[in-house]
Amino acid sequence: MKESRDDISDLVGRGLRDIAAARTTEALEEQRHAYLGRRSRLTEIKRTIGTLPPLERAAVGQLANKAVADLEAAYAERLDALTAEREGDGAVDVTLPGRRGFRGVRHVLTSTLDDVLEIFHGMGFTAVDGPDVEDEYHNFEALNIPAGHPARDMQDTFYLEGGATRVLRTQTSSVQIRVMESTPPPIRIASPGRVYRNELVTPTHFPEFHQVEVLYVDRGVSMADLKGCLYEFVQRFFGHERALRFRASYFPFTEPSAEVDMSCLLCGGSGCSLCKNTGWIEILGSGMVHPAVLRHVGYDPDVVSGYAFGVGIERLAMLRHGIPDVRYFYENDVRVLSQFV
Ligand code: DAH
Repeated sequence: MKESRDDISDLVGRGLRDIAAARTTEALEEQRHAYLGRRSRLTEIKRTIGTLPPLERAAVGQLANKAVADLEAAYAERLDALTAEREGDGAVDVTLPGRRGFRGVRHVLTSTLDDVLEIFHGMGFTAVDGPDVEDEYHNFEALNIPAGHPARDMQDTFYLEGGATRVLRTQTSSVQIRVMESTPPPIRIASPGRVYRNELVTPTHFPEFHQVEVLYVDRGVSMADLKGCLYEFVQRFFGHERALRFRASYFPFTEPSAEVDMSCLLCGGSGCSLCKNTGWIEILGSGMVHPAVLRHVGYDPDVVSGYAFGVGIERLAMLRHGIPDVRYFYENDVRVLSQFV
């Protein structure tokens, strides 16, 4: 049946042309219906294939299948093109405001810690880590806080189960001991890390928080060096108009000890609710390393001296950003945290 074959090539030729010429998806659907639909000539030819002599049957069958495949492919291609065209003009409203993707920010504690360490790095201090799980010796005894010493009650301690008494460190001061034990003086370190205290959660207390412990030990280190270092740190961290006040205090591992206040960030010293009308805000504890601590690590207090201080990172971040509640740092609500870049 020669005419069936001619018919088919003819149909495909016309079909491809009409499909390519369709200007709209509706027109395209019409062409599909005309060339591939149930009443189309091609379908009719396929239906009659069974009646053909065996020799013809295979040849016409193959040709018909190929015709269907070619027309289907042309249809799909044209449909893609028309859809893309449509999305290309009307669908994009260029006057709409852009959709800003959410970019992550560093956690405010991380950025605060990084800033603090950078300042100390600039003054020649090396950052060192220490273990969160400590023994009582490094957390207390070597820091001049023997068992039964009332200063153990200054920090409510988490004790871990097991043979030797291990604790979650209550202060990064423990790293002072570890470094001095293994290194001869001079020492100039800043040790950042997490500390733990068995306390109730309140707006100002959380059972874990972060500190940076700073230690400088060398020949002839004096309180003047401590003050110089702290002035430098506070001016760089909080800006250039902060006055400092050194208030006599007590820490077992320093003698003399001083708590350091800075002039209030909000009122500048005249008195407001942030500084409870004192004009001052306490920022850290400090002092000259106690001779007993130096002796514990095998240093000779007649030859070397040092200063140390410990500063709370949460406290610094709260003051710098006006964050009213320590719990915000740990609830990890992105709406809160994303405000601090
Ligand atoms: N370790 C003290 C605390 O956690 C802070 C501190 C005070 C560290 C005085 C020091 C220091 O090095 O000299 O409360």
